[in-house]
Amino acid sequence: MIRRSFCLGNLIQSLRVASPLSKLGAYCGLTSQAASSLQQVCEPSAHSNAGYEEYADVDWDNLGFGLMPTDYMYITKGTKDGLFEEGQLSRYGNIELSPSAGVLNYGQGLFEGTKAIRKEDGRLLLFRPDQNAIRMKIGAERMCMSSPSVDQFVDAVKQTALANNRWVPPPGKGSLYLRPLLMGSGPILGLAPAPEYTFLVYASPVGNYFKEGVAPLNLYVEDEFHRTSRGGAGGVKTITNYAPVLKALGRAKSRGFSDVLYLDSVNKKYIEEVSSCNIFIVKDDTISTPATNGTILEGVTRKSIIEIARALGYQVEERSIPVEELIDANEVFGTGTAVCVAQVGSITHQGKRVEYKTGDRSVCRELFSTLVGIQRGLIEDKMGWTVEID
Ligand SMILES: Cc1ncc(COP(=O)(O)O)c(C=O)c1O
Repeated sequence: MIRRSFCLGNLIQSLRVASPLSKLGAYCGLTSQAASSLQQVCEPSAHSNAGYEEYADVDWDNLGFGLMPTDYMYITKGTKDGLFEEGQLSRYGNIELSPSAGVLNYGQGLFEGTKAIRKEDGRLLLFRPDQNAIRMKIGAERMCMSSPSVDQFVDAVKQTALANNRWVPPPGKGSLYLRPLLMGSGPILGLAPAPEYTFLVYASPVGNYFKEGVAPLNLYVEDEFHRTSRGGAGGVKTITNYAPVLKALGRAKSRGFSDVLYLDSVNKKYIEEVSSCNIFIVKDDTISTPATNGTILEGVTRKSIIEIARALGYQVEERSIPVEELIDANEVFGTGTAVCVAQVGSITHQGKRVEYKTGDRSVCRELFSTLVGIQRGLIEDKMGWTVEID
């Protein structure tokens, strides 16, 4: 494999002693060792509270992925023709809905997930919020809903992050998870698109998604339940894709697994994704992930990891992956805004458990470190993915 050489040695050293405003070296590829060093510098630093002093009263060292209500949310309404009013920030709280709202009766609802991360200098960075906006637009089209423009979406996310600035964790302690929602809020009785839509963004500080923290996940391959079906809406982030997995997820968790890996519903043979993240397998220097064909969510993290892996010199394949291939894989990992890049330690299918390489010298850790380094502003963002707000 041709791996890009990288000038990271000195960079790692400079990161360890970096002042908050240090300009970091170029991102042009990483070695595993360098990446694992970067992992260390991604841990909470001595400068954790630099540049920002008015934090909410939160135990930042023990953040999980639970809802912690924050101060403000953004809300606006739009017509079915797509004319959305200028949105407003209001105190976070309950909203009023007609009992006959399209979302309550016919499931016209979409959600997104993106996050604001505090840099060492105290400022906030968003990661590719335009990609979430575009995905919401595509989802709205599929669900016959109108949606805000990409600009309005991104502006709403920025406003919500800034208004809740004191809830954005100190550098290295987590992120402010931003949850944009689009719903058919207008009343409708006969099956049809709602006459009015509500776009809302709320926020919650979060740490690790899984209770395992950063420990490797143990996945269960589900044979009975499928997440979505060919021709369905699995490729968009509609709320209607999530309640159906709760049964399988609850069952797997009660048996001690971290999450479920779903198979395609047609052949019952190809791996698709996990309940809330995409899946990748590593075999030697090739990284593979299921191709998106309408049944798998096109994750923003998935897309980013594919680009990062290619830039690092790995061969990346998007293709159908038969479940049997899991037996030969060296590594498996999941990707998502909430889960980041999560190592998988084992997968169990039909009573057979396969274990995978994990740890600091893994490909997964190398990709994790690079992504997190970019998201936190510790590695120069040559892709133009991060958006600074102040
Ligand atoms: C089913 C599913 N797949 C994949 C993902 C990962 O998507 P992203 O990387 O955009 O967060 C998510 C999370 O939003 C998800 O819910």
